[in-house]
Order: sequence, then structure tokens, then C-alpha cells
Amino acid sequence: MSTSQSNATLELLLAHRSIRHYQDAPVPEADIRAAVVAGQAASTSSAVQAVSVIQVTDPAVREAIVPLTGGQTKVAKSGAFFVICGDVRRHRLTCDDAGAPYDARLEAFLVAAVDASLFAQNMVVAFESMGYGACYIGGLRNDLPAVDAALGGLPEGVYPLYGLCVGVAAEAPIARPRLPVDAVWMKDGYLDDAAMRAHMQRYDDAYAGYMEARGAPARGWTAGVAKMFSKVQRAGLAAYYAAKGADLG
Ligand SMILES: Cc1cc2nc3c(=O)[nH]c(=O)nc-3n(C[C@H](O)[C@H](O)[C@H](O)COP(=O)(O)O)c2cc1C
Repeated sequence: MSTSQSNATLELLLAHRSIRHYQDAPVPEADIRAAVVAGQAASTSSAVQAVSVIQVTDPAVREAIVPLTGGQTKVAKSGAFFVICGDVRRHRLTCDDAGAPYDARLEAFLVAAVDASLFAQNMVVAFESMGYGACYIGGLRNDLPAVDAALGGLPEGVYPLYGLCVGVAAEAPIARPRLPVDAVWMKDGYLDDAAMRAHMQRYDDAYAGYMEARGAPARGWTAGVAKMFSKVQRAGLAAYYAAKGADLG
């Protein structure tokens, strides 16, 4: 990817690739602290800061989480592993202490998911700026009750969203192409379906070439999307988050 503009920040952002293989090297505490503080510097809805990040430091717990993510060994082998959580716990405690009811619904859950993701992406960019590679782990949501138990039992109001592996890269993958910018950047309205389909078709060709270059079958992006969204995924999520106190209504 490229832009007509260039500066160190843009170059860093455009150099992003998920890293899935890591050298056997820890990430120093000072670097982690810097990334977490950078995460905290992200914008946050009304400054509610509805996020917590749990670093999993116990190697046995990291090993226990591997099968819960569909066997992603990088969860145990990366330099550091984190669980990113939307977190309304502090708000609930504050309401309790004030004797006020806590009546936060889907909006509060969305605020937590958005805040946590802005925080996490700031962390990723911070780590990448320090020379590390990173990979989010959505596979963490395969079995959240088991992840919760592995973390010693999370309190109400804490919603694990995804994991994050960080470490020194042991691979240099080619960049995964993105949709044409005109498929995502619109002005004053939304594209008609024919125009959108044309963009996706164009992207399919680039994507199939990328897959082939990676040594995988030359499958287009739309084929993967159709496969992914034609079956129910992680059906237990609403029940888990509701059990953690989320009102998704
Ligand atoms: C929330 C989230 C969850 C993800 N979960 C996984 C995962 O479980 N395993 C994995 O290998 N990659 C995971 N990824 C990485 C994506 O597959 C990757 O970002 C995407 O294919 C684009 O590739 P790139 O990051 O190299 O540009 C995840 C990314 C995001 C944003």
C-alpha cells in the first residue's frame, strides 16, 4: 500500500503486517509500559476509559489458552500475550458507591468495545514503532467461559474481546492488500451495489494474487467472506457477555 503523502508515521502504519511467528525473546517491561501508556492516550468516549488489558505472564496459563484459540501456538510462543477487555467495572463500582442504579445497555457495551479497540490499536502501533510485530487473536472468543476460568474468573463488567500477541518477528510476510480506497471512502452518501461489486471484483484479482504469492490457493476475498458469513460463528457470545452483566438490549 502507498499514499501520495509520506512521513514516518504513515510509513509505520503502511508497513503493518500481522506477525504470527516470533523469536524466543521476551518483551521488556519498559516497552510494554510504554505501549500501554500509548494505548491510554487514545481517544475514549466521554473519557470513560472503558478498557483494561490483562497481560498473561504465567507460561502455563498461556499454554492453556492455546487450545481455546483453535491451537494458535503463538499465544504461548510470542514475547508477550495480552487479553484486551472492554471494561465497565469501574463505572459499575462508581454507581454502586454513589447509590445510583447501573443501567447501561447495548450502548455501554459498544462504548467498551470501541474504547478497547482504539486503545489496542494504539498499543499495536506503539509496539510496531519500537520494532516489534503483533497479531490480534480473535480466536480468543471461541470459548470465552474457558478463557475466563483460565484467567482466574473475571468479575462482572469485564468483557474479554480478543487477544494480542507481541514479540520480535521471526518472519517477514508480504503485505495483505486492502480493498480499493474508493470502496471504503465515500462522499455524502453510500455507493450503489453495482459500483461496490465492481470494486470487490477488482480486489478479488489482487487478493488472489496475494494468496498465490503466499503459497496458498489463489482464492479471492469475496469467496472467503462468503464462506465465513454463511455459517453461524461463536453462537455463545451473547450468553457469555450477558452472564458478565452486559445488557445487550
Ligand atoms: C480483532 C482481530 C482478530 C484477529 N484474530 C486473529 C486470529 O485469531 N489469528 C490470526 O492469526 N490473525 C488474527 N487477526 C489478524 C487478521 O487476520 C489480519 O489483521 C488480517 O488478515 C489483515 O492482515 P494484516 O494484519 O497482516 O494486514 C485478527 C485481527 C483482528 C483485527
